[in-house]
Amino acid sequence: MEISQELIHKYNIAVPRYTSYPPANHFQDNFEVAEAVRLIGESNQGSPSNIAVYIHIPFCTKICFYCGCNTTLMKQEATVAAYIESVKQEIRMVAARLDRKRRVSQIHYGGGTPNSIDVRYLEELNQLIFDLFEFIPQPEIAIECHPAHLSELYLQRLLNARFNRFSIGVQDFNTEVLDTVNRAQAAMPVADIVRFLKEANPSISVNLDFIYGLPGQNVAGFTETMTKAIAIRPDRLVTFSYAHVPWLKKHQQVLEKRGLPGSEEKMDLFMASRRLLVEAGYEPIGLDHYVLPGDELNVALQNHQLHRNFQGYCTRRTTGQVYAFGVSSISQLERGYLQNVKDISVYMQSVANGQLPVEKGLALTADQLIIRAVIEQLMCNKKLDIPSFCECYGMDNEAFVTITGFEESRLDEMIADGLVHFRDGILEITGSGSFFIRNIACVFDPAYLAQTRKYSQSV
Ligand SMILES: C[S@@+](CC[C@H](N)C(=O)[O-])C[C@H]1O[C@@H](n2cnc3c(N)ncnc32)[C@H](O)[C@@H]1O
Ligand code: SF4
Repeated sequence: MEISQELIHKYNIAVPRYTSYPPANHFQDNFEVAEAVRLIGESNQGSPSNIAVYIHIPFCTKICFYCGCNTTLMKQEATVAAYIESVKQEIRMVAARLDRKRRVSQIHYGGGTPNSIDVRYLEELNQLIFDLFEFIPQPEIAIECHPAHLSELYLQRLLNARFNRFSIGVQDFNTEVLDTVNRAQAAMPVADIVRFLKEANPSISVNLDFIYGLPGQNVAGFTETMTKAIAIRPDRLVTFSYAHVPWLKKHQQVLEKRGLPGSEEKMDLFMASRRLLVEAGYEPIGLDHYVLPGDELNVALQNHQLHRNFQGYCTRRTTGQVYAFGVSSISQLERGYLQNVKDISVYMQSVANGQLPVEKGLALTADQLIIRAVIEQLMCNKKLDIPSFCECYGMDNEAFVTITGFEESRLDEMIADGLVHFRDGILEITGSGSFFIRNIACVFDPAYLAQTRKYSQSV
C-alpha cells in the first residue's frame, strides 16, 4: 500500500508516541516518595495480579549519535559493580512491599546495553528475582543485546541463566551507515547469533531491531539490509522510525550535519522495508513491528487482545504491573507511573539511604485511566467500539465525550482521507490509517489538545 506525499505532509505533525498514557513528559517533578509507596502498596489489589519486572542497565561502551535511550558511557568496572548492588537493594525494597502470592510473568532487561556488562551480574540479578518471587510456569525472560558484545560463551551463559527472548540491535547492516552514526560493529555475525540460539533451543524467540531515517541510508541500501534480515528469519523484527529530539539528546545534533533524510525519504525507506517484509510472509503489528504468522503477537492481534507497555507490544496485559528498577526506569502501576532518578550517583545514594529512588511520577485520575484504556485499544488493536467500551466501563456516551474530549467532527478529514471508518460509534483504522495511528489517538486525548509540550514528528 502506497501513501501519498500529500498525506505525509498533512499528518506529519508533532504528536506523542503513546508508549504510555499520559506520555512521560507529563510526569510531575519532585514526586513524593510517600505517594510512590502508596501507589506500590495499592497495586497489590490491581488486576491482573502478575508481576512484570523491568531492569535498566544504563551503560554503553560507545554512544551512537542517534541514541534516544537513557544511557551513559561506561568508564569504570567499579561503578558497574556498585550500580548492580544498588539495583539488587532496590529490588529487595520493592519486593518487601509486594504481596508474595503474586507471580512473576516477565523480566525484561533494557538499556543502555545490558550485555555490555559482565554476564555474571545478569546471572546474579536473575537469581535474586528467582529467590524472591514465585513465577508462572513459562515466564518471558528478555534481554536487549548489542551484537558488538556477544560471543557464544556469553550467549550460553545467558541461556543457562534462563533468558528465553533476545532482542538484537542491528539498526542497519551497512557498515558505512553504522560508522556515520558512531555505532560499534558486530563482534559475531548476527546470522550466527540467531543460529546459535535457535540450535540451542528452537523455542527461544529472537527479535532484530532496525532504524530508518539515519544519515547515509537510502532505499537501495536499506533494501539490502532488509533482504539480509529476512534471510536470517528472526521471529520478530522492528523498524523504528528515527526519533530526532536534539533538545533532549544533544549528541543527536551531530547527525544534522551528516545529512538526515527528509520525511519523504523516510517514508520511502519505511515503505520499501514494509513491502519486502510483507512479501516475505511477515505480519505487521502496529506501525513498526513485524512477526512470523504463528507468533503469539499475531494471534493476539487477530483476537483483539494485544497490549503495549514501555518495552513494546505484549500478549499479556502488563499495564498496571510493571515494576521497574535502575536509573530512569519507569514503573507502570495500576493507578500511576513512577520514574526513578536519572543520575547514577544520586540513584545509588538514595538506595543506600533506604529510600525509593523515585524522582517523577503521576497518580492517575479516574478519567486518565479511561483515556489510557481508549488509547491502548487504538494503538494496539486499531479499533474502538465506543458503545461496548462505555458498557464495559459503566458509563454513557455523554460521560465518554466529557472525559476524552471526543468530537466526531475531528474525524471528518481522516474519514475523507481514508484513514478511518466510523459507523454506529465504532471506529476502525484502515491500512493507510495505521501510518498515522498516533494522530488518530490524539483525537481522544484532551491533554494533547490543550498541550504546550514538544514531541517528535509522527513520520
Ligand atoms: C536500548 S537499545 C537496544 C540495545 C543496545 N543498546 C543496542 O543498541 O543494540 C533499544 C533500541 O532503541 C532504538 N533506538 C535508539 N534510539 C532511537 C531513536 N532516537 N529513534 C528510534 N529508535 C531508537 C534502537 O533500535 C535500539 O535497538
Ligand atoms: S543505541 Fe544502544 S548501544 Fe547505541 S548508545 Fe543507545 S543504548 Fe547504547
